[in-house]
Amino acid sequence: MDKSRTRELFERASRVVPGGIHSNIRYMQPFPYIFERGRGARLFDVDGEEYIDCVVNYGALILGHGDRRVTEAAKQQLESGLTCGVESELSIKLAERLNSIIPCAEMVKFSLSGTEAVAHALNIVRGYTGRDKIIKIEGGYNGWSDTVIVNVHPDPSKAGPASSPNKIYETKGVPENAKENTIVIPFNDGEVAEKAIRDNKDKVAALIVEPVVFNSGAIMPKEGYLQHLREATEKNDVLLIFDEVITGFRLAPGGGQEYFDVTPDLATFAKAMANGFPISAVAGRRDIMKVSAPGGGVMYGGVYNGSQVCVAAALATLDAIEDGEVQRRLNESTQYLSKRFAEIVEDRGVEAQLLGLGGQFCVYFTDEDIVDYRSAAKSDRAKSQRFHRNLLDRGIYTYDGYLFHNGICAAHTMQDLDYILQQMSKSLP
Ligand SMILES: Cc1ncc(COP(=O)(O)O)c(C=O)c1O
Repeated sequence: MDKSRTRELFERASRVVPGGIHSNIRYMQPFPYIFERGRGARLFDVDGEEYIDCVVNYGALILGHGDRRVTEAAKQQLESGLTCGVESELSIKLAERLNSIIPCAEMVKFSLSGTEAVAHALNIVRGYTGRDKIIKIEGGYNGWSDTVIVNVHPDPSKAGPASSPNKIYETKGVPENAKENTIVIPFNDGEVAEKAIRDNKDKVAALIVEPVVFNSGAIMPKEGYLQHLREATEKNDVLLIFDEVITGFRLAPGGGQEYFDVTPDLATFAKAMANGFPISAVAGRRDIMKVSAPGGGVMYGGVYNGSQVCVAAALATLDAIEDGEVQRRLNESTQYLSKRFAEIVEDRGVEAQLLGLGGQFCVYFTDEDIVDYRSAAKSDRAKSQRFHRNLLDRGIYTYDGYLFHNGICAAHTMQDLDYILQQMSKSLP
């Protein structure tokens, strides 16, 4: 493939942008892809190449690129002249919609990104309980704020015992003592979680968990695990936060909490909420959320919170996905990919599995039962990178992080799925 324009632009970008990209996850060797436009399930790069998109805006794209309903709503809102820093009837409508769709959402408040929603949620639970500590899951990503940017993908050889991991930051630049307020536990171990909650109940404000750990690929909760967390937190007067930045609106209209029928105290949403427009939300119990009102004690700020074009895009997205049909099809399509992929690797004698839900999936190059970060990290990193590189060369845009969730959206057709599977088969290492 001739990538001369991409190379040229990347060199230009690198002169003024560190690494040439504005979010480091977008970097790829030897250079990131640079796109000109997107339409439905397709992306078109600056060298005129067409790709079937399997990154889907890191999970934010649920309907497809340039979905007409969302684009029209955003365009119309632009005409009003309102941008950010104001309240409008539209924002109230969106808050009411979230209240009617999401089980835990007695009250909601908007922000801009997933990181912000989580940071706000953590301040809210700390303000409400008067306690500082947060329990998080190893292998989970809850944005890049200080408390939670710990043990996302630590080197397992340095991370100590799985049941009480050493705390390791993902990045420099975070004060070393910030992690004193974080307790890290493995996913899917209800006993360990219950003990951590019980032993620290006087210091812990909340436990935060992605209902499905897509940030280590696609790790499903074991039967009863989320319910166990619900009961253990309730019993010990600790709050439960579901980070639904990926699962929200995707597994079901009401997110993971509807799909798994477990209602947390608070939840955070972003990504699929507006089909890629930047808006996020904290939602939860009225008594807890009320601390974020003026005079409630917890500061809640943000000029861009509830930016009007994004609010309009969110309402149009919810119109399109509220009846659950899109989610039903995405869940079915993911099952189809998983089943067909299993046949392919069985036939080819390759140790690999495709796990996923709601259109998000991960190919693990191991036969290990994937239940937590440590088992997921057994996936063969070199094989995974070769596989994704081969897919990219074959016109399937995927991200090559070995524990990364790739995905599909409502615009992918059955024909697209079969084509992706065909290319996956040819790309196996
Ligand atoms: C579960 C989860 N929480 C929080 C975030 C942070 O969201 P953002 O990148 O919008 O800050 C992400 C982003 O990938 C996420 O997957």
